[in-house]
Amino acid sequence: MEKVLLRDGEITLHTRERSNKWQMYINIKGTDVFVRKSTGTANLDDAAQIATKYYDQLKSKANSASNSASGVIGWVDERLPILSFVRDHLTNYYAPKNFNFWYFFGSLAFVILFLQIFTGIFLAMHYKPDAKLAFDSVEFIMRDVNLGWLIRYMHSTGASAFFVVVYLHMFRALMYGSFKKPRELIWLFGVFIYLALMAEAFMGYLLPWGQMSYWGAQVIINLFTTIPFIGPELGVWIRGDFAISDPTLTRFFALHIVAVPMVILLLVILHLAALHTVGSNNPDGVEIKKHKDENGVPLDGVPFHPYYTVKDFVGIGVFLFLFSTTVFFMPEMGGYFLEHANFIPANPLVTPEHIAPVWYFTPFYSILRAIPDPAFGALAMALSIVVLFFLPWIDNNPIKSIRYRSMLFRINLFVFVAGFLILGYLGVKAPTPLYSALALRFSEMYFIFFALLFFYSKSRGNFFSYIFAGSMISLITIYDLTRISLDNYILILTGLFLVCAFILFMTISPLYTNLNKEKEVPERVTG
Ligand code: HEM
Repeated sequence: MEKVLLRDGEITLHTRERSNKWQMYINIKGTDVFVRKSTGTANLDDAAQIATKYYDQLKSKANSASNSASGVIGWVDERLPILSFVRDHLTNYYAPKNFNFWYFFGSLAFVILFLQIFTGIFLAMHYKPDAKLAFDSVEFIMRDVNLGWLIRYMHSTGASAFFVVVYLHMFRALMYGSFKKPRELIWLFGVFIYLALMAEAFMGYLLPWGQMSYWGAQVIINLFTTIPFIGPELGVWIRGDFAISDPTLTRFFALHIVAVPMVILLLVILHLAALHTVGSNNPDGVEIKKHKDENGVPLDGVPFHPYYTVKDFVGIGVFLFLFSTTVFFMPEMGGYFLEHANFIPANPLVTPEHIAPVWYFTPFYSILRAIPDPAFGALAMALSIVVLFFLPWIDNNPIKSIRYRSMLFRINLFVFVAGFLILGYLGVKAPTPLYSALALRFSEMYFIFFALLFFYSKSRGNFFSYIFAGSMISLITIYDLTRISLDNYILILTGLFLVCAFILFMTISPLYTNLNKEKEVPERVTG
């Protein structure tokens, strides 16, 4: 047998001679694919010429042959190409080779989603969606069902873990500009997932029918009643009654265990389908598809399996360690994962001293409380989420990764994250004048972050910079003038000064310093 090496090392051509006849095969990854048969003595030069001419066809033929399995799996695959699908999305899917630990959180979110579904199924076997029985059935799970406590704590801790992981996953997208062209759809599906996740967590929280379940739901459903014209009717429609009661509990149960999980699963499939269509971004923010070898394989890519399946297991291992430590040693997490007031059965006649949602909602709850008028507070809260949908069009700067963006971008992102955490903290606390003033300032900073992102989406001239800074400062000052009084003027003026100084620094300093200078983005990933 003689061999001819074709354009790459993977494909070899060889002939077999059998009594005055020769057969030509192409071999890819150990599988021979028959190409041609002829009489006479094999002429390898001719064969190589033919093969080179039909290279692409031969290659795809050879590829599909090397991908096809035999036996039962092959039989199924011919009828329903599951195996080929898995290959296309794992072994033949090339991901950038420079993923760092920030890329653990997508697969971790996936793991937690299944953990929640799995533990949820077992909880549903013993839980009773009835206002008279719900609280006791949860106690029954905790005390009498075999390992019921473990399943319940895994589910309640899983809810918080889900949000920790999703927030880190979203932060990664902000850092590396993963929401930008061509990944806008991945981001949009992500924001829908986030919304669905919030709805799922909110409805799940009513099910134990504790005091906080009841009063937390009361606060949120009341938000809908502030919508002009349709609000009150909408409230009744959501509750199924004039107050939160048994019909509310049963419909939340149905939505929590069937409808919303299905929506989340569907959205996750769409999220990943969009991701695999355009390919992953990476910490350098460069497109690996731009540099391919002659076989179409990205030079800066590695097959997702085995490289990232193995790497992701490291992330899952670390996660399971932290998760089990929480489940076994601090499942209530000092009242942050399971609030203390929720160990008291729901009582519509007794309002808890201080109502606060679970920690993952508190930044938005702070924005809601920051504006005294309930309708405007609800509007600001809704806007704070809606604005996320527009992020790909707000930040049009072609540089994706924080590695190559300016110092001012980094400061903006840092202040935004710090502000979001502070809003979260303030949302847990009972409001005081100082806390309310801070909540309003950091709510303003939340929106200023997006305004500045728009500002930096291209380089701005003097005129635009001054107008931009002037309009933002005027807007905030006018609002402050409407609420200033002798009691609060020190607090208001100090806050106003700080926010205006920040806006001026972020918008005017690029005109006189090189703080907004960006670095040159490399062509290829830097490892
Ligand atoms: C159930 C929740 C979610 C699951 C299971 C999930 C899963 C994943 C997975 C497996 C990846 C690829 C691996 C990685 O890049 O880490 C990914 C990428 C991505 N996700 Fe999610 N995700 C979820 C929620 C979200 C949310 C809430 C957002 C944003 C609002 C988001 C935005 C993105 C973006 C922009 C990418 C592309 C990242 C890149 O290419 O650098 N995801 N997601």
